[in-house]
Amino acid sequence: MIKKINNIAVLTSGGDAPGMNAAIRAVVRACSYYNLECTGVYRGYQGLIEGDFEKLDARSVRNVINKGGTFLKSTRSMEFKTKEGRAKANENLKKAGVDALVVIGGDGTFTGGLLFNQEFDFPVVGIPATIDNDISGTDYTLGYDTALNTVVEAIDKIRDTASSHNRLFLVEVMGRDAGDIALNSGIGAGAEEILIPEEEGGIELMMDSLEKSKKSGKTSSIIVVAEGEKSGKTIFELAEHIGEKYEEYDIRVSVLGHIQRGGSPSCFDRVLASKLGVGAVEALTDGKSNIMVGVHHQKVVHVSLEKALKEKRELDKELRRVANITSV
Ligand code: F6P
Repeated sequence: MIKKINNIAVLTSGGDAPGMNAAIRAVVRACSYYNLECTGVYRGYQGLIEGDFEKLDARSVRNVINKGGTFLKSTRSMEFKTKEGRAKANENLKKAGVDALVVIGGDGTFTGGLLFNQEFDFPVVGIPATIDNDISGTDYTLGYDTALNTVVEAIDKIRDTASSHNRLFLVEVMGRDAGDIALNSGIGAGAEEILIPEEEGGIELMMDSLEKSKKSGKTSSIIVVAEGEKSGKTIFELAEHIGEKYEEYDIRVSVLGHIQRGGSPSCFDRVLASKLGVGAVEALTDGKSNIMVGVHHQKVVHVSLEKALKEKRELDKELRRVANITSV
């Protein structure tokens, strides 16, 4: 028999992403709409272990839809990786009368949620939130669109100075093992070359393209490099490598870093967060568990947490083709 859900806890875990606050808001407001209690958990899984809870109502989440970061705070809890830690979390949830859990985060968050569900048969639904866009089964993760806009804005500024000084810039962007941020921001910002972890031989292609750029009379260039690019060289070594072959280039390196994770969420991320927050609560009240609510072709979809974690997202080959054509 499916246990009736009366009280849903919500937490954010792992690297923060713009749109997390909007997702918490949607979960809290959906609980309120369906006359359910909502329990906010501070500091992700660590807060579950320490019982760092607060009751949230519709008014607790006023004025947060536009805020970056997460007001519930986030951690990467080592203790939750232990069975003892998870057992403490289960006890705390029981004591607080919580019946189900919404976890907002990336693959580490989903791995924790899946284990917890399997060990204690506790209903868990995940909302994908990471700037990396590296979760399978959803077209987009929360925060990705905002991060892309931040990166494009930063590269536009770099382009101004690059072209004023006839310089070559290597710009490192985040994304862990995924090249989505690099490929999309590279196209959006008109980069001459894009190095991503999903492709081998990126450096050789980049050197060829620099040669062509030189011949075609380009005086400045932007190369976007994904942080997980697998050449075995850091971005500074890459700069040296180029400098050795092309002494005439005045090369600079810019590592965009954590500015990519901050800022007010884009409208796209706010709407996505709202859809997924409502979808997560409705999935739980429908008796669903152990799933992620994602989005595919604008519609909310349910994907098992196992599938979301196991399957590797494929590189969008069409996008790579477009990048190659538009950077000639
Ligand atoms: O997963 C999000 C992310 O920003 C990655 O792109 C990056 O590699 C990592 O987190 C950085 O983590 P931290 O904030 O712990 O330095």
